[in-house]
Parts: sequence; structure tokens; C-alpha cells
Amino acid sequence: MAEYKYKVSAAGRINIIGEHVDYCGGKVFPVALSLKNTVYVRPNGTDKINIKWTTLDESVSLDIHKLESYNNLKYGNYQAGSALMWKRAGHKLVGCDMLQDCTVPFGSGLSSSAAIEVSTIAALAAVAGEKIDPVEIALLAQKAEREYTGVNCGIMDQYASACGKKNMCMLLDCKTLNCKYVPFELGDYALVIANTNKPHNLIESKYNERRAECEQALAVLAPKLGVSCLADVKADLFEKYGHLIEGKAYDRAKHVVEECARVESAVRAMENGDIVALGGLLNASHKSLKELYEVTGIELDALAEAAQAYPGCVGSRMTGAGFGGCTISLVKREAVGDFKKVVGEKYYEKIGYRATFYFAEIADGITVTQL
Ligand code: GLA
Repeated sequence: MAEYKYKVSAAGRINIIGEHVDYCGGKVFPVALSLKNTVYVRPNGTDKINIKWTTLDESVSLDIHKLESYNNLKYGNYQAGSALMWKRAGHKLVGCDMLQDCTVPFGSGLSSSAAIEVSTIAALAAVAGEKIDPVEIALLAQKAEREYTGVNCGIMDQYASACGKKNMCMLLDCKTLNCKYVPFELGDYALVIANTNKPHNLIESKYNERRAECEQALAVLAPKLGVSCLADVKADLFEKYGHLIEGKAYDRAKHVVEECARVESAVRAMENGDIVALGGLLNASHKSLKELYEVTGIELDALAEAAQAYPGCVGSRMTGAGFGGCTISLVKREAVGDFKKVVGEKYYEKIGYRATFYFAEIADGITVTQL
């Protein structure tokens, strides 16, 4: 890669707990992974961003004056949206050649899209000689995801991808963007990531529907309680006023209120080294995402429930948006090999295709190396 000028990476992520609360102003608890998207980049003196991939036999050439027009591209749309947001924010955008190398499995719920967007913007900053501001890059990447690809996402994925730190969890307040780093320490336990390999479909529309239901619930509670987001509704007040919310929106709001409380308990459990308590919170989170938020589905339930039934596992849940994607499980270190075998078999028996288990370390968000 010596012919390129910079090597710029951004991370995939998992969320330990605090699911579907970021767009309700809640706190989330993600970590950045060593699975990442890397962009090798060099200026090319033209008005084109030329993109190639290490894993695809494709190439695209984006005109930096026509970036609005690429949102239907099969490959390169995330990069085009990211470049457009970078430009619209008033930054210098220069023509360049990019080689993209993604080790975050696509469609796994480990935020490959955030890793692509964040690393692409950071690469554009590097090649233009501009400052790398991870929080600004995360916000621009979120804008690209929302306005260019039409997923009305929260800030968690892009923030984790940009601002992650090696061996640290991020307790991110999505209302204020205040972030507290908490050491990722699991003692005798390991964190195992497993992919359901469920084929992707309609995630975007179901995701946007959940958001709308939360807004509906907030519209009922805000005038009564004077809150500006669902995450600010405490359990006792929800108990008192929740019945005013009609239909499914009640269940969605109940999940948000209770999940926010679980995040606080989970952080305390991690800080106290109480991994068994942390595991219990993971299980409760999955149950709520299954029964109240209804974003799991038979594949995620099969995988999480097989893990929960394994003796050396203290907790397991879906992570990310749901409807497929990955689970995370806390497993006794010495049992990890057997866990994968036993849980993998159970999943295969029930679902008819195999889950994939990943090894990943907790890593930095954006990294830039001059080559
Ligand atoms: C997706 C979104 C995030 C967040 C999670 C659910 O990953 O991009 O903003 O809402 O789902 O917690």
C-alpha cells in the first residue's frame, strides 16, 4: 500500500447494553471493535473520488460536484453521502483515490456502515490536510446515514466508531454527547460475538417505525411531565402516567424507561467486577427487546436463548438494531470453545443454517497513519 499517503481506520462496534435508547436521549454502553474499515487514500489532483475495494471486484468514480446523485449506487453510496456531508459542513474536499478494506462483516449489526462512513470522512480530512475531530466526524457520518441512506439512526454507532478507545467501554449520554470511559474488564469471563447470519430485509423501515412509536409516546408524556425525551421519564412516573399511551407505543416506551435504568446498573456491575450481575442485566435486556420492543425474531431468540441455557454463560442478548445480526454473550473463559460448539449446534438444529462466531478485541475508534 506504499503508493497511498494515509491509512485511516474506523471501528465496528457492539453495544453492551442500552438498546434502542440512543434516539430517545438515553445512555448507551458500546465498545469499538478491532473489526474495522480501513481506507488507504492519496490525493489525485482531479475532481474525482475514485474508490476500489480489497474485497470486491468493483470500482466507482464520484464527481465531487455531483455527490447528491449517487444514493442509489450499490457500492460507493456510503462514501458519496459521507463526502457530501463533509463538503456541506464547509470543509475542503479534494479529489483522491481510495482503497477500502472492510473487516466488519456486512449486515452483521456490528456497524459496518458507520465504520465506512467515519473512516471515509476521516480519510477525506487527512488527505485535505484538515484537522481530525472525531466527534464532528461522528455527527457528519450520522447525517450521511440519515439524509443520504434514509435510516433515521441515533448517534451511538458513529460515535463508537469514531471515539472508541482500546479496552474501554463508552458510557455515552446521547442527549449531551458527554462520554465517560469505563475500563472493559470481565475478569474470568470473555465476551463472545455470534452472528445469526439471518438474511437482511426491511430493517430500515422497521427501525424507523419503532422511532415513530417512541415519538408518539413522548408526545403523550411530554406535556404531563415536562420532559424533552423518553429517557428522562423515570420508572415511578412511567408507572403513574404510562397508561395514557395507547397501543404498541406503550410497550416501546416501557422498554426505553426500563432499559435506561439497566444501563446504570450495568455500569455499576462492570465497575464492581460483578460479571454475574452484568449477565443478568443482559438477559433482561434481551427479554425486553423480544417482548416489549419486538425487534428480535426467531434467529436472535434461538441464539440468545441457547447461550443463556449454557452453564458457563452468565448472560446473552442481541446487540444493535436487531431483526437479525449479532448476539453478545458473557462466557467463562475456559468454556468458550465448548460454548461455541454447543450453542452453534443448537442454533443449527433450530434454524437450519449456521451461526458465525467472531473474535474481536476492544480497540480504538479512528486511527490515522501516514504511510
Ligand atoms: C442501530 C442504530 C443506532 C441504535 C441501535 C439500537 O444500530 O444505528 O443508532 O439506535 O440501532 O440501539
